[in-house]
Amino acid sequence: MNLQTMAHKLGMEDAAAAFREEWDAIQQTLPAGGPPFLRPEQVARDCETALLPADMAQAVAAAAQRVAANDALSALAWYCHCRLFGEEPAHPDLKSWPLPTRALDRDAGLFYVLVLLSGIPNMQRVHRQRGIPADVIRETVLNLKRCMEREDYFLRTGHWGLSPRMFGWLMNHWRGVLYQLGRLQFKPGPFRGKLRVFRNRGTGAVLALAQDGLTFRANGEMHEGSDAARAPDGWTSTLEVTGTEIAGFPIDPRGCVVRRQMRLPARDWQPALAPEDPILEIHIPTGPPPMAHDLCGESLRRAMAFFPKYFPDRPFKAFVCSSWILDPQLEALLKPESNLVRFQKEVYLYPLLGAGATMNSAVFGLGTKDIRTAPRRTSMQRALAEHIEKGGRLRSGGCFLFPEDFDWGTQVYRSRGVFSTSANAR
Ligand SMILES: CC(C)(COP(=O)(O)OP(=O)(O)OC[C@H]1O[C@@H](n2cnc3c(N)ncnc32)[C@H](O)[C@@H]1OP(=O)(O)O)[C@@H](O)C(=O)NCCC(=O)NCCS
Repeated sequence: MNLQTMAHKLGMEDAAAAFREEWDAIQQTLPAGGPPFLRPEQVARDCETALLPADMAQAVAAAAQRVAANDALSALAWYCHCRLFGEEPAHPDLKSWPLPTRALDRDAGLFYVLVLLSGIPNMQRVHRQRGIPADVIRETVLNLKRCMEREDYFLRTGHWGLSPRMFGWLMNHWRGVLYQLGRLQFKPGPFRGKLRVFRNRGTGAVLALAQDGLTFRANGEMHEGSDAARAPDGWTSTLEVTGTEIAGFPIDPRGCVVRRQMRLPARDWQPALAPEDPILEIHIPTGPPPMAHDLCGESLRRAMAFFPKYFPDRPFKAFVCSSWILDPQLEALLKPESNLVRFQKEVYLYPLLGAGATMNSAVFGLGTKDIRTAPRRTSMQRALAEHIEKGGRLRSGGCFLFPEDFDWGTQVYRSRGVFSTSANAR
């Protein structure tokens, strides 16, 4: 079946371009009996391997039957499978892959569940090659169920399924690059922060300096918008690293950049982290359970043992996270016993641009626009709604934590850092 026919039959003409690449070549390989991964016995086995409970497996099996009975849906399912799990897997932007809503109505969110299930052999191959322990596979794979019953497709429609965005996210689990270790998830990647970090050779103290040419507000938050540099309170960072000296604007581990240039003798400070360095991203799946302080510490401890053992080819310099939960303002807005606040105190925070819609959705519910009618059931909702009503803005934040500094519960960068012993800097 050609691409236009498929798109027309499924009422997806507008989005068909997302499937153009390799469409014809892939269709030539479609087996006569349709995609084998849609056969009932195969679907049942895959649901079992993916740890889907019986009621979910039944819904997935019913959706598989509908897809198998429809030649356009079968052609599309085969295309998605081959593109992602074929001999030369591609990395398309899955957010642009539409849901076949017209053809599958309430089952549309199960379409990409079927595609994911079809990739189980590929995922198992990676796990086998790396020798990943069964308990980690279990924790990691269970994210499919969790996403199907908690994330945006379910919240929007009330039916189990995956949005294209969550499908894309779960491909990380399925490609064997992301692992859940207790409460947190980890994924190797390059450091994308706009800062450089140095470590004092004598004291071991860590200091982050903002990259050159970034614009901040007087209070050290990042400035947004193209005219930021011209804003009345805008100022621009500089960073100069020579063989003898490092001169730049320091980032307080509480997450703001200080408008006071520091000059460090290069012989005393060695580079510790720079853009593109290998890091381990931290991801925090939606609760419950909460991100309890001890559980987070335990997850990080597990990651420090897991990655060197199973991914010796992916050494990492630091743990890094970017999220609305790292908005440095939260420390002042939430209760001190809040898990988010306690997490923030254990890491070195740095400013990022606004969190806006992400935070609104995460805190007040998907698509919340009007703060006046947003729910105020939890202390966070009440505190953030009040903050916004008073003209405050929510932001994003980033953080890093070096494994060699890991001492969970001691707030290492606040208790032992340059900002508590400023004598280290001249
Ligand atoms: C991250 C998460 C697990 C933290 O929850 P937590 O451990 O309960 O966090 P805290 O202890 O700081 O919560 C303090 C208060 O805010 C509430 N709260 C926490 N997260 C909330 C959220 N997303 N929306 C509304 N209220 C929230 C808690 O219920 C608690 O309320 P209470 O004082 O009335 O009992 C939770 O926010 C969540 O599931 N978020 C979605 C996933 C996410 O955003 N991950 C980060 C992206 S990388």
